Amino acid sequence: MTRIKHILTTGQPGETLTVKGWVRTKRAAKKFTFIEINDGSSMAGLQAIAGEDIPDYANSMARLNTGASIAITGTLAESPGKGQRVELQATAIEVFGESDGETYPLQKKRHSFEFLREIGHLRSRTNTLSAVFRVRNACATAIHQFFQQQDFLWMHTPILTASDCEGAGEMFTVTRFNLDNIPTNKEGKADYSQDFFGKPAYLTVSGQLEAEIMAMAFTNVYTFGPTFRAENSNTSRHLAEFWMVEPEMAFCDLEGNMDLAEAFLKHIFSYVLEHCADDMEFFNQRIDNTVLETAHNIINSEFARITYTEAISLLETAIEKGKKTFEYPVSWGIDMQSEHERYLAEEHFKKPVIVTDYPIGIKSFYMRLNDDNKTVAAMDVLAPGIGEIIGGSQREERLEMLERRIEEAGLNKEDYWWYLDLRRYGTVPHAGFGLGFERLVQFITGMTNIRDVIPFPRTPDNLDF
Ligand code: 4AD
Ligand code: MG
Repeated sequence: MTRIKHILTTGQPGETLTVKGWVRTKRAAKKFTFIEINDGSSMAGLQAIAGEDIPDYANSMARLNTGASIAITGTLAESPGKGQRVELQATAIEVFGESDGETYPLQKKRHSFEFLREIGHLRSRTNTLSAVFRVRNACATAIHQFFQQQDFLWMHTPILTASDCEGAGEMFTVTRFNLDNIPTNKEGKADYSQDFFGKPAYLTVSGQLEAEIMAMAFTNVYTFGPTFRAENSNTSRHLAEFWMVEPEMAFCDLEGNMDLAEAFLKHIFSYVLEHCADDMEFFNQRIDNTVLETAHNIINSEFARITYTEAISLLETAIEKGKKTFEYPVSWGIDMQSEHERYLAEEHFKKPVIVTDYPIGIKSFYMRLNDDNKTVAAMDVLAPGIGEIIGGSQREERLEMLERRIEEAGLNKEDYWWYLDLRRYGTVPHAGFGLGFERLVQFITGMTNIRDVIPFPRTPDNLDF
């Protein structure tokens, strides 16, 4: 069986072959029928022509509605039609599964993304969603390629965890308790010693802490897996289950971390432009006519780099000069809202900007305290159209300092004994970051809603498919 993308690019007239896929359209002429078949390998489908002389012509054609799965055997011929190099002159057609053309939800018209989300089991057969998922696949490939070429080891970090990496308390609890009858202790609270792990368990919000363990053995590692956040934010950029890529580097400081993040994003964009040219062309035409320009801009420009303090001044100046109004107030110490982040990336710098050295009060306990005692060696990469796409930092490698930070964060030092041990035995300056994989796919494709760049989105009140 030959995949359509190869036929379209390298198929030779005269070749005999069989393609398998799903019918996109069928158009009947007098003595023959045009069938467009798509197998998901490319945006474009293959046009086939079935003449009256093929076995069981009338019956086969009656069974070929949009959505039906078929195999067509035939000979390639130069195509007189425009838009395709070759077409398939059918000699035999086999129908695997018919499709009821009346009820098939994907009709030949543009459907809204909201509607397509309701048919998550079929939406990948549309042009837009199939392009998104091909690009998503290319991004994942580019990510592995980038790290493997630089001798990073891919490490699988656990999904079940007992620790809150971000210390933000946005975790989903995992339990075997019968929730209608939870064993309790003397204080009347849930008695986790009777639960599966003998203590509270959660779905991980990040693989970072375990990645740090592995970086202390392998120098450079990365994780790439699902992470979970129970934050109740119903926005176009938040999912309850999303994928995160987290490199962690020993012997690396904030500067090296920023350099890696920038080279990393550039590599992914180049890879996608090279391997998904048709899909990117499609996004540029149909979704957002700036995506190609943005991609070239990412590859060719240097990212801006400013401190948080400078970022706040830029925002304050924009407000003072009447250039911009924001919904949320701006002052040193705020956790920037996405409107602030987007102003910096989209309007001020017009390219990605890396903001560093955030106030200690708004960042996680593991970030390295700067000498000013007010800020930490954090970095966020802000992307036009998205806002924060990467969050990372140099890590606190000094034992006493880290102990203090854990306490100040209201966390339990005993729970982090192994994390602290890393600072007892051969600690090194180290750094890493987390890239939100879906936000990356949004950034590249121009898709506005994060629910449309993951095959099966999980968001509040949404757990179908
Ligand atoms: O900034 P965050 O919370 O950083 C961490 O979790 C660190 N442990 C990473 C590290 O240093 N190894 O999350 C990292 C990125 C964000 O920049 C954002 O792109 C994405 O993950 N992200 C989400 N994406 C989709 N839905 C959500 N609810 C997200 N929360 C964070
Ligand atoms: Mg963050």
